[in-house]
Amino acid sequence: MKDTAVASIPFEPGSLAPTGIIPLSVPELRGNEWKYVRECLDSNWVSSAGPFVDRFERMVADYVGTKHAVATVNGTAALHTALLVAGVKPDDEVLVPALTFIAPANAVCYAGAWPVFIDAEAAYWQMDPQKLTDFLERECLWKDGQLRNKTTGRRVKAILPVHILGHPCDMDPIVDLARKFNLVVIEDATESLGARYKERMVGHLGDIACFSFNGNKVITTGGGGMIVTDNEAWADKARYLTTQAKDDPVEYVHNEIGYNYRLTNIQAAMGCAQMEQLAESVATKRYIAARYEEALRDGRGLRFLEEASWAFSTCWLFTVLIDQAECRSDSRNLMERLSEQSIQARPLWQPLHRSPAHADSQAYRVEVADMLNREALSLPCSVGLITGDQDRVIKAVRDWLTE
Ligand SMILES: Cc1ncc(COP(=O)(O)O)c(C=O)c1O
Repeated sequence: MKDTAVASIPFEPGSLAPTGIIPLSVPELRGNEWKYVRECLDSNWVSSAGPFVDRFERMVADYVGTKHAVATVNGTAALHTALLVAGVKPDDEVLVPALTFIAPANAVCYAGAWPVFIDAEAAYWQMDPQKLTDFLERECLWKDGQLRNKTTGRRVKAILPVHILGHPCDMDPIVDLARKFNLVVIEDATESLGARYKERMVGHLGDIACFSFNGNKVITTGGGGMIVTDNEAWADKARYLTTQAKDDPVEYVHNEIGYNYRLTNIQAAMGCAQMEQLAESVATKRYIAARYEEALRDGRGLRFLEEASWAFSTCWLFTVLIDQAECRSDSRNLMERLSEQSIQARPLWQPLHRSPAHADSQAYRVEVADMLNREALSLPCSVGLITGDQDRVIKAVRDWLTE
């Protein structure tokens, strides 16, 4: 495998692309963003309270179907807070997929707990319910009314499935396992607002869920996050913890360690405008994915993330798998070739059991995540991707396949 540093175009997904470059995924601000942000500035409601924060929370809760929503400064803060309110304590363990962006594993560590990495399944690349079952049944035991990891002796407290790339996890077996083993389910839905599992909204499938409105997501507030849940006590606690755990705001009494995790009214104003466009943005993402599939389906050695029969995917990041043997070259080589043509592409994340940052955490039979990391490459799929640019990407991939 080649050095990827030279191949990747050096700007973050979600940030503005230099002229002439086709970026991976950038924001599309074509609605009421200006109007609502201007309202904040005109009214002086610019900080972490205000009518747009309330409106944004209501919009997301209503959309997902949960009773409550609490806006946060980003998705990572939402995850950290969700773990705390769900009762994850220092030295507990939380089952996290090996193939995901690192934020959920980091959030587990912020709570003083340990991630245990579970493999992805090969069909839809999400947390593997079978390996999760095997881990819970074979590697854990009940001791004094608590589920403990046989290897580490630690209490297993929660499952944190991540709906990666806009596609939902197979949630029924995950929730069944959680009920059987008395575990909390914290959905990391940060990449998948708008996706559905068996006609139910992602974010309303477990006990509590988190979204991100980071710049590369389907909708963005620049940076932002949201916790959603039906549990009123947890929502109240989340609101309390994210506002510095203020017990008496006049006398500055704080009974707990809190966090400055609230979203500003300006960001929420953008969020409201973006929510108004969510359905259209998801439809566009799906259209872009369908167009790629149509144009590349006959490409030898290419595979796509298919949509499960029970899934409605937002197709957040259109990603292909490149079979090295059949293509006689690998995903990083294609990335390099695209980069030479000013097209930004990205591999999926280093599997977390290989991350030096999480070297001390346990991984359970992780294999598929390694294969996906080797073979996967995400292609440009911003909501604003114009047909001509997509055709340029398609041609570049097809040319590479026939080189
Ligand atoms: C799976 C996953 N979890 C959590 C996050 C964290 O969200 P944020 O960047 O808003 O902190 C992201 C991405 O940004 C993500 O992709």
